[in-house]
Amino acid sequence: MARERVAAFAPGRVNLIGEHTDYNGGLALPFAIDAGVTVRAERASEPRVEAYAADVDERDAFALTDDGAAVGWRAFVRGVVHELRATGVPVAGARLEIGGDVPRGSGLSSSAALEVSLCLALIALGGAQAALSRLEIARLCARVESRWAGVQTGLLDQLASLCGQERAALLIDFSTLRIEAVAVALAGWRLVVIDSGQRHTLASSGYNQRRAECQLASELLGVPWLSEAAPDDLPRLPEPLRARAEHVLSENQRVVAAVQALRDGELGELASLLNASHASLRDRFDVSTDAVERTVAGLLQAGAAGARLIGGGFGGSVLGLFPPSVTLPGATLEVRPAAGARLLAARTAA
Ligand code: GLA
Repeated sequence: MARERVAAFAPGRVNLIGEHTDYNGGLALPFAIDAGVTVRAERASEPRVEAYAADVDERDAFALTDDGAAVGWRAFVRGVVHELRATGVPVAGARLEIGGDVPRGSGLSSSAALEVSLCLALIALGGAQAALSRLEIARLCARVESRWAGVQTGLLDQLASLCGQERAALLIDFSTLRIEAVAVALAGWRLVVIDSGQRHTLASSGYNQRRAECQLASELLGVPWLSEAAPDDLPRLPEPLRARAEHVLSENQRVVAAVQALRDGELGELASLLNASHASLRDRFDVSTDAVERTVAGLLQAGAAGARLIGGGFGGSVLGLFPPSVTLPGATLEVRPAAGARLLAARTAA
């Protein structure tokens, strides 16, 4: 049933481990966080969208049929409207108010939270809740990233935001898109994120280049996904493709080991895996920066047992795992697994 007014919330995410594996058919272990984006949508009589981004106090307005490109947050709004319509989902004219508490460009998937909350709100406003599965919504949002924002992301951020669960990380196998909840019981240990202070704009960074390198490596090895490469074949690759492939294969193994460490309550082992992941992202995948290195070193000096960059790299946030007795340093935000994207109750949609 079409509605006059809806509100939807979608969370950002932290990826515990498994970086740059999603578009390589590998494994990752993300979880949704409390912070996210809320979209309030009200039906309009005209076939146009008026959008207000409260955190930056900016507006946009366009006809539903307007397929013109845009930049920044406007690209996501226009992209979601266009891709929903292209998929055959009815989109009503709407007034949108967008608000949230995921810092933009901080590596906590503010853009996925924006796309997903827009999708849920517009689908509900158009009265077609059952039109798309969560996986189809994730894929549609990834198309928005690549066609409208210029970043060929995988599905990590969108699936984490859509499928998040309280007290659990999501073990995602990107070759099958099977998702398994893995309980996160930290026994007094704490996970924190801290901003490196360096904004990352994935499109202008080397993200697409890394993706192209992985694609070329898998073509040279004759495998559909780089994650399916045989370790013995990697020496056949020229550098830097060999190093990229070594990262992907070893990172998949670290995800498996991290799941085991969580199941065994071995938090010190989990911390060692975070450190190994970071070293591999820095040395083999080459996505760290001086600002990220300083932030990782700062967390370790403050007593973290493990720390690593999260997300695409080239800036953004760093994740730290602190043992129980250590005081958390200032400017860190404690994070824990939270519920995934959802429509909010009607009374909060006013
Ligand atoms: C970004 C992308 C994801 C994923 C990570 C790296 O967050 O949006 O699809 O590739 O980088 O793991």
